[in-house]
Amino acid sequence: MLSPEDILLTDQVAIVTGGAQGIGEGVARTFARFGAKVVIADKNAETGPRAAQAIRDAGGEALFVACDVRELDQVEAMTARTLETFGRLDILVNNAGGVRRTPFLDLGARGWRRHIELNMNGLFGPTDLAARAMIAAGRGGSIINVATIEAFRGAPHRSVYAACKAAMVNFTRTLAIELAEHQIRVNAIAPDIVATPGIGLVDADGGAPPKRLAALKRHIPMGRVGHVDDTAGACVFLASPMAAYVTGATLHVDGGTWASSGWSRDEQGRWQLFEGFADAY
Ligand SMILES: NC(=O)c1ccc[n+]([C@@H]2O[C@H](COP(=O)([O-])OP(=O)(O)OC[C@H]3O[C@@H](n4cnc5c(N)ncnc54)[C@H](O)[C@@H]3O)[C@@H](O)[C@H]2O)c1
Repeated sequence: MLSPEDILLTDQVAIVTGGAQGIGEGVARTFARFGAKVVIADKNAETGPRAAQAIRDAGGEALFVACDVRELDQVEAMTARTLETFGRLDILVNNAGGVRRTPFLDLGARGWRRHIELNMNGLFGPTDLAARAMIAAGRGGSIINVATIEAFRGAPHRSVYAACKAAMVNFTRTLAIELAEHQIRVNAIAPDIVATPGIGLVDADGGAPPKRLAALKRHIPMGRVGHVDDTAGACVFLASPMAAYVTGATLHVDGGTWASSGWSRDEQGRWQLFEGFADAY
């Protein structure tokens, strides 16, 4: 029978890639609050130690390990350091990723390779090493991939990023099947807009010109952009025993934008599919 404690991550050890800021930092901070020991694996050696220190200052356990997820030797060293320090690994959050907004024809081979290195190699390396450690320990585990709504729709000027994230969603399904016998669950979340330094929105209520924020809110059924706590909450659920039988799933954490698929409110608050086709449509 489930009990409220089953949402806790007590004594679980989690790696969060790209955990120094934004969505990853929110996940790391929240995991620690729910009892996990957290490794922040990030290439940024300035913000990473600060994020880990902030967790420790709040009474949690956290370690920063400098790691560029595109470099397999660094991922190997980071995974080994996690096991040496905390003695186990239960959760991996593949969060490091990113996009350079550019039309496909302006991207060129160098541009698309950079996207693939970060969003694909940076997914496969940590997953490979974490899954091996989890299998060797025989305790199962949870792997959570941070995808995006762009994995589910065409996304102009984000072609290779969207392709990589769509691949991530399908990789999530396939790996869920391959690792099921080891009780390792593999799931994804698909946020839309979450206020992070990476997208130039510092917090969900500010950090953007009011006009831009108002327009965003009209396009999001729940009327606000996402907060890093929204994505963190979904990750806690997927990591915890509350999701013991959930694998291969992608959870949309987007305030309803995937469900609304283009419907938005006009300035009077009426629903419209295209600008000027309010209500009557
Ligand atoms: N913010 C959004 O609206 C949004 C929406 C959907 C999906 N996402 C996805 O969420 C993830 C995090 O986004 P964010 O907005 O928090 O980003 P962010 O740019 O604010 O933070 C990204 C973090 O990842 C680290 N990082 C980048 N490249 C790395 C590498 N090669 N190795 C290790 N660390 C690296 C950065 O140093 C930084 O700390 C990304 O995968 C992104 O695609 C974000």
